[in-house]
Amino acid sequence: MSRKIAVLGATGSVGKSTLDLLEGRTGGKDGLFRVVLISAHRRGKELYAAGTKFQVPHLAWTGLPNSPSDFSVGGSYSPRIHLGAQGLLEALEESDPDLVLNAITGAAGLEASAWTLEQGKDLLLANKESLVVAGPLLRRLADQSGSQILPVDSEHAAIHQCLFGQAGEGKIREGLKKVYLTASGGPFWDASPQVMERARPEDALKHPTWSMGPRISIGSATMMNKAFEILEAHHLFGLREEQIEVLVHRQSIVHSMVEFVDGSLLAQLGVPDMRFPILYCLGFPERLRYEKSGFNLASFSSLSFEPSDFDRFPALRLAKECLRLGGDSGAVLNAADEVATQAFLEGRISFPGILKTVEKILKKHKTTPIQSIAQVLETDRQTREKTCQSLVSV
Ligand SMILES: NC(=O)c1ccc[n+]([C@@H]2O[C@H](COP(=O)([O-])OP(=O)(O)OC[C@H]3O[C@@H](n4cnc5c(N)ncnc54)[C@H](OP(=O)(O)O)[C@@H]3O)[C@@H](O)[C@H]2O)c1
Repeated sequence: MSRKIAVLGATGSVGKSTLDLLEGRTGGKDGLFRVVLISAHRRGKELYAAGTKFQVPHLAWTGLPNSPSDFSVGGSYSPRIHLGAQGLLEALEESDPDLVLNAITGAAGLEASAWTLEQGKDLLLANKESLVVAGPLLRRLADQSGSQILPVDSEHAAIHQCLFGQAGEGKIREGLKKVYLTASGGPFWDASPQVMERARPEDALKHPTWSMGPRISIGSATMMNKAFEILEAHHLFGLREEQIEVLVHRQSIVHSMVEFVDGSLLAQLGVPDMRFPILYCLGFPERLRYEKSGFNLASFSSLSFEPSDFDRFPALRLAKECLRLGGDSGAVLNAADEVATQAFLEGRISFPGILKTVEKILKKHKTTPIQSIAQVLETDRQTREKTCQSLVSV
């Protein structure tokens, strides 16, 4: 029987790759999936086109257009259209998916992640910010409802693959020594401080190995993306700070590694294309066939690994600080970074100004334990306001 899937953030980089993979796997009596809901924020036309292609009964358009008539509705396709952030939750309720792939960018993805876990549905999570801002709450919801969180993020999907099938849950924890998250180093790994000071948005958006949306591309250049992945690994796999190490691996072929107490290391390899971790999550625990999966390891004459540089890329240090602080510090880190990244993209602050701003905001913040999603959203709102007023421009 086909599984009902919701694809949130369907017009973005991960969302579009997901829909590509679903093509040919939906519809008919043999289709593995049925797409019951897709969402977008601003790109209404693209949302409608994808809805038409997959005959999706529910479309959520969160960017508050004037009215649903903004869609060029015609023909026999007449989906139910849900507007705004509240409309997305209503669309989830009405479409009742079995699994939700959340590829919304930023803290805006949090409520959908929480809804999915509360309802006991499986969450295929690309929106790492959900875990960065409210990891302990989401973990609790998953444990209470029995939902699975399957990481779409390539590094965490790699760790999941290395761990799955090793032993019973408890034994994995005992046998696991540490994980190595690999990082490409982004476009400025070898750059001088002067180059970074002069960097324009188009320079920072040029990722050496991955093709991604703007926020995560800038996050790869500042290494804030890797900082988020440290927090993500902590919440997903229950790892302590000293069990998570970042290694710079310029080729982006080894997606991450796991070291066990007996000294064995397991790595997961593949070309840098998000379709592979997405497909892994869609099929889990089965493996779905993929005709484009050719990987010629012989074409890589060397694979290199270097330690990460906490001085030139202070985001990694900030992530470890948030791990120690706990509470709402992750929500503050994310909100400040979202605002500062946007300011850089709009030419209002320099590239080094992003992390200087985030560091300043985090330093001033008094950590509070988090009790509810509403509280996290309020912290997010207040931090955005403060960050807008405290941007460091140099
Ligand atoms: N791209 C990658 O290779 C990659 C890898 C690992 C993890 N991730 C994670 O996956 C998530 C998506 O990344 P991406 O690169 O696909 O981003 P993206 O290309 O910018 O797409 C983001 C999607 O979210 C929607 N969106 C934007 N703001 C929203 C809001 N306020 N409320 C609801 N929806 C909103 C966008 O709609 P519109 O198109 O209508 O604006 C779009 O569909 C991020 O959390 C990222 O960290 C991405």
